[in-house]
Amino acid sequence: MSDEEAKPERRRMVRPPSGGTAAGRGMGTKMKTADTKSMSSQQWIKRQLSDKWSERARAEGWRSRAAFKLLEIDDRFHLIRAGSRVIDLGAAPGGWVQVALKRGAKAVVGVDLLPIEPIPGAELVQADFTHPGVDRQMMDLLGGPPDLVLSDMAHNTVGHRQTDHLKIIALIEIAADFAIRTLKPGGHFVSKNFQGGDAGGVLTRLRAEFETVKYVKPESSRKDSAEVFLVAMNRR
Ligand SMILES: C[S@@+](CC[C@H](N)C(=O)[O-])C[C@H]1O[C@@H](n2cnc3c(N)ncnc32)[C@H](O)[C@@H]1O
Repeated sequence: MSDEEAKPERRRMVRPPSGGTAAGRGMGTKMKTADTKSMSSQQWIKRQLSDKWSERARAEGWRSRAAFKLLEIDDRFHLIRAGSRVIDLGAAPGGWVQVALKRGAKAVVGVDLLPIEPIPGAELVQADFTHPGVDRQMMDLLGGPPDLVLSDMAHNTVGHRQTDHLKIIALIEIAADFAIRTLKPGGHFVSKNFQGGDAGGVLTRLRAEFETVKYVKPESSRKDSAEVFLVAMNRR
């Protein structure tokens, strides 16, 4: 798919597995029963172990294969600058936090529902970002307005198409709203999205608030996954 402001094609949502390691969460298949779920989880773990990006992540010391997605996005758009302040929503196990620090960010605050092993140089909060007050807590830890807001948040799907769709859009809207409220002028926002996740309302808002908005499908994002990333650059 072209990343030039393309409208994502409509496809069935995929379900993130609830088990296994955190690396690559959000890339599983739709599961219906306990048996198929456990079979699917086993397949997911097997796939993780043989996946080229997961192997590279282990070899290079990244906590997740997701790290390569941000590296790729940043190679292309140069979003992380030396001295940047970065917020990372849905940060576990910490691949994107590692990337932000490696690329010179001076302050990184991450949040996740799951605990994250400490990463020197980063403040990591275990909380539901959608809960009142968590955004304020993160801003206090960051010590100033962010230059970059990242969101790789992915919920555990329930298997009901409309419900999952609403949950995905809700997470993107909450992340986008936070980015618009807090980013410095000239700041950037990156959010996970899914082809078929009709983020029309959010897109309209982002286009009004940022100079450029693009869809990107990184090489390291699984081809069979509906995952894409929204990259909104230069907050007006
Ligand atoms: C694909 S993983 C993130 C991987 C991460 N970017 C990395 O590089 O390691 C998605 C994460 O979003 C988190 N998440 C989902 N909903 C959330 C919420 N409401 N608040 C905080 N974290 C959330 C999940 O717990 C999960 O760990």
